[in-house]
Amino acid sequence: MDKSAIDPHIERILLSNSEIISRVKEIAAQVSGDYRGKQLTIVTVLKGSVFFAADLLRFLTIDRDIDFVCTSSYIGANSVSKVQLVADLSSNPKGKNILLVEDIADTGLTLNYLRDNLKERGAASVAVCVLLDKPAARKVAVEIAYRGFTIEDFFVVGYGLDYEEKFRELPYIGVLKQSVYNNK
Ligand code: IMP
Repeated sequence: MDKSAIDPHIERILLSNSEIISRVKEIAAQVSGDYRGKQLTIVTVLKGSVFFAADLLRFLTIDRDIDFVCTSSYIGANSVSKVQLVADLSSNPKGKNILLVEDIADTGLTLNYLRDNLKERGAASVAVCVLLDKPAARKVAVEIAYRGFTIEDFFVVGYGLDYEEKFRELPYIGVLKQSVYNNK
């Protein structure tokens, strides 16, 4: 990629758009094979996963529909991080085969919460699909069925991922310069 095209807040590009898209195509082929003959519901975790979910949906070759949830984290009793639903699905998950699509598994708290929540509400199956996996940051175990890339514990932005709502539009995934968050 032309160096001048790199956003000045980005330290370096970790994954180019073409690398991301080829991996998304591979995951879509895998998911299509695994769910052939079934109706799949893609549950997209807002907001960071919208680019990933949209591309995944384009490359799937099976019956599928899409829905959205939005979560937020807060510090609960005993300083333990908790996740809550800010916006729920538009339809009942009961009896559905759900693929939870998330941009990144970091602490694992969001995916854990959502998986339990969907299972408790009677989903027939819940599998997790993440574009990025940061295992070094994990606080709770998450079973990941489909994983795009495993990355080190960097703060990354682009392809939907943000820092304070910025940088989502970047076509690539890049490591954010530390000066962006240190100089706040
Ligand atoms: P969790 O810690 O696994 O629950 O991840 C929750 C959310 O944190 C993800 O969906 C992302 O929105 C955000 N997040 C975690 N790591 C990064 C990162 O490196 N860049 C941008 N957002 C991140």
